[in-house]
Amino acid sequence: MPTVIHLRADTKPFERRSPLSPKTAKALLDAGYIVRVERSTERIYKDEEFAEIGAELVPAGSWIKAPKEDIILGLKELPEDDIDLPHTYIHFQHIFKKQTGWAPSLSRFARAGGTLYDLEFLTTAEGRRIAAFGYFAGYAGAAVAFISWAHQVLNPGVTQGEVPLFENAPALVQHVKSALEPAIRANNGQAPRVIVIGALGRCGSGAVDFCREIGLSEDSVLKFDLAETAKGGPFKEVAESDIFVNCVYLGPNPTPPFVTFESLAIPERRLRVICDVSCDPNSVNNPVPVYSTWSTFDKPTIATSKPVTDPELRVIAIDHLPTMIPRESSDEYSGLLLPALLTLDRRDTEGVWTRAEKTYKDRVSELP
Ligand SMILES: NC(=O)c1ccc[n+]([C@@H]2O[C@H](COP(=O)([O-])OP(=O)(O)OC[C@H]3O[C@@H](n4cnc5c(N)ncnc54)[C@H](O)[C@@H]3O)[C@@H](O)[C@H]2O)c1
Repeated sequence: MPTVIHLRADTKPFERRSPLSPKTAKALLDAGYIVRVERSTERIYKDEEFAEIGAELVPAGSWIKAPKEDIILGLKELPEDDIDLPHTYIHFQHIFKKQTGWAPSLSRFARAGGTLYDLEFLTTAEGRRIAAFGYFAGYAGAAVAFISWAHQVLNPGVTQGEVPLFENAPALVQHVKSALEPAIRANNGQAPRVIVIGALGRCGSGAVDFCREIGLSEDSVLKFDLAETAKGGPFKEVAESDIFVNCVYLGPNPTPPFVTFESLAIPERRLRVICDVSCDPNSVNNPVPVYSTWSTFDKPTIATSKPVTDPELRVIAIDHLPTMIPRESSDEYSGLLLPALLTLDRRDTEGVWTRAEKTYKDRVSELP
């Protein structure tokens, strides 16, 4: 019997991303899988795009009554209720680090004999995640930072309004270019100077590429990674840039801060916007310790924890940046996930799935 992959219609508000694209669904069909796709008006891909490549469209929510051996694929956590979860599920459930409510949530799978392969815990043998939404997080983060910089130059002291979501990346690039034009004129013709830390990583390369896409010259984008930060922060280059995009992946070792209130208190400071893509304000190891909470697309910037004025410094700390460009980020993510999905028919022996199943079972064994 061919393995059935049933793509849920995600129900989390504003979530338009998908772990399966028409292209990756077609690759699975070609490899002999049956792919069922729940109809969805929210998902960035139209139902017809899946129908055209031969996937079977099924009603939204039909996963609940799907045969037990079907694999239920989605992106975000399942709706919070108490129904049993007897299938094999693949999605981000955000419970394996014992987040709030983890035990009742996990027990819904465990008591019904289900299995949860959490997307965050699909790893290589070396422990590296096989798929993450990095590149377009950095890309979108840089975009929001430019929008905020332009807003502040043109409207000092006025709170910035909601940032729109975009159908695709070219629409975002166009929007940012139009927002920047009058701000650069008002800034004596000077384009913003940017520093990206963690520039060689997934998020960092997305941020750097976005700067290129809007036509910033290579020397207006300072790219720091491990080599450049080895001497230890804080760095005056951060205060001297107009925009700082932080994209480092925080390991377990403490990192000296890249920026502090003291390092900002210099006459040469130009910095108006920090976009903390890494977004760990509650970590003791946060290398951007000048703010204390998250922001959102409707209120994209927050103040620093102590006022930094003249010019005012605002912080962007949005933890779901890829949502801003759901098509490209879904294309990227589902492409990274596909090699693992193609081995689902032998998941009892394939390392990526056996490791993920062990993670699940270990967590279940910790249930109170
Ligand atoms: N805000 C969001 O929506 C969002 C989305 C995806 C990922 N993230 C977060 O972004 C972070 C980066 O993710 P990634 O996938 O790009 O990781 P990655 O491992 O691909 O890249 C991290 C980069 O940081 C560099 N780095 C690490 N420590 C450094 C230091 N002290 N100084 C300079 N460079 C350093 C590494 O060398 C690497 O190049 C993670 O914390 C991730 O959780 C946020």
